[in-house]
Amino acid sequence: MTRPLSLDFEEGRRPMLPISLSITIDRADPRTLPVQVADRIRSAIDGGQLPPDSRLPSSRTLSVDLGVARAVVEQAYEQLVAEGWLDSRRGSGHYIRRVPLAGRPTAEPSIAHTTPRTPPRISLRPGIPWTPSRASDAWRRAWRDVGGSPPPGHYPDSAGTLELRTRIADLLRRARGLHTTADSIVITTGSIHGLDLALGALTVPETAERVLALENPGYRSAAALAAHRGWSVHDVPVDRDGLIVEQLHSAPPRTPAVYVTPSHQYPTGGFMPIGRRRALAEWARRNEAMIIEDDYDSEFRYGAAPLPTVAELTPDRTIYLGTVSKTLGAGLRLGWMVAPRIIVDRVTATRHAIGDHPSIPIQHALTSLLRDGEWDRSVRVARRLYRTRDRAVATALSRFGELRGVGAGLHTVLMLDPATARDIATACAASGVDVPTLAHSTRSPTAEGGIVIGYGSLADDEFDYAIDVLVDALEAEPLS
Ligand SMILES: Cc1ncc(COP(=O)(O)O)c(C=O)c1O
Repeated sequence: MTRPLSLDFEEGRRPMLPISLSITIDRADPRTLPVQVADRIRSAIDGGQLPPDSRLPSSRTLSVDLGVARAVVEQAYEQLVAEGWLDSRRGSGHYIRRVPLAGRPTAEPSIAHTTPRTPPRISLRPGIPWTPSRASDAWRRAWRDVGGSPPPGHYPDSAGTLELRTRIADLLRRARGLHTTADSIVITTGSIHGLDLALGALTVPETAERVLALENPGYRSAAALAAHRGWSVHDVPVDRDGLIVEQLHSAPPRTPAVYVTPSHQYPTGGFMPIGRRRALAEWARRNEAMIIEDDYDSEFRYGAAPLPTVAELTPDRTIYLGTVSKTLGAGLRLGWMVAPRIIVDRVTATRHAIGDHPSIPIQHALTSLLRDGEWDRSVRVARRLYRTRDRAVATALSRFGELRGVGAGLHTVLMLDPATARDIATACAASGVDVPTLAHSTRSPTAEGGIVIGYGSLADDEFDYAIDVLVDALEAEPLS
């Protein structure tokens, strides 16, 4: 099995990115995995295939790429350090030492050093969370529990299992201060599914248009879903406090719904203060409209706790959406909706009629993760990492302009004028770092622009490198 590693290295940049390796692991080989990894690296150094002073991938990165436990790579590196092939530099990684070559080519090159040395590609796309490279005991236990039950032969409850809905009600109460009960909850496959179900359940008077008011800049998938559903989208500008509620008055009369991310405006990072939340609730009441509240990453706060939800403020006028996409991972496809009973009834009736049922095994697994405390544990671990990165971004970039969204979530935004944001993105791309600009999330033109720094899923060395590249680009740019 040969797995080429994903990072290439480029000389002369600081910090030096890890060298690119392709290592062959043979599961049939009687040697242990650490011995195999060490042998491959040793013979490549000795054969002159890996230049002195190159930095090796972190044990985490290499273990993920090889599909082995991190301890395997750590042991291999330790062995090579002890033998004098590698230097271990604290906080910086493992480097190849200058060793006089044995003068003979390796019989069978087992590591390919990729040439030419192309710049790496690191993406600062927001919203991709850190997930552990190894399954935790609780994760395994959750799926063992699922595997221990017989296959579910019947269509499940279209609202979700009562046990999971009860656990979600408990989670929302303790984590979000949202007081609700299992019969106000519907299990979904994520926020976008929740939005789809919500739009399907809203009754729009014949005299009114099907218009969804949406934040601009905002979540593109929400706009795409609305259009797909045959709704038109009305853009509402945002500022540092999130959606500008007064601007809702420009929406067509009797606009039936507004989609909003009040706890961490996506992507510009604003936190909607209580006054504006009350104004939003008042707008919904006066217009007999629904607020669709997407609370996608409120688990991650590094200073003040998030404000109570809009759903708590005005439960009759809010459809609240939650997801595991930023915590356990987007691949799981699980979320929840909290809505007034009439909406819940319509949603479940439609789902039942069209055969749209939530998967039983996935619900069981999440129930088990919540029961075991694994949910809380994984949120705590990720929060520690994000807090460090949130601070690192603030420290490195605050001198270049206004930062939004600091202290929350998995990304931060540096506000810049749109042209500068574009130049910075172009400069960073040339060094292998893809930096999204707010233009990616903007539907109608706005005066403000910015760059988005999504740091959730990066390895430490990728993060450090990306910040260095950003700082270099910003220093080179004449900022207004
Ligand atoms: C604003 C926002 N809401 C929700 C989600 C998650 O959506 P889903 O639960 O459908 O994966 C994302 C993911 O990127 C997001 O950016």
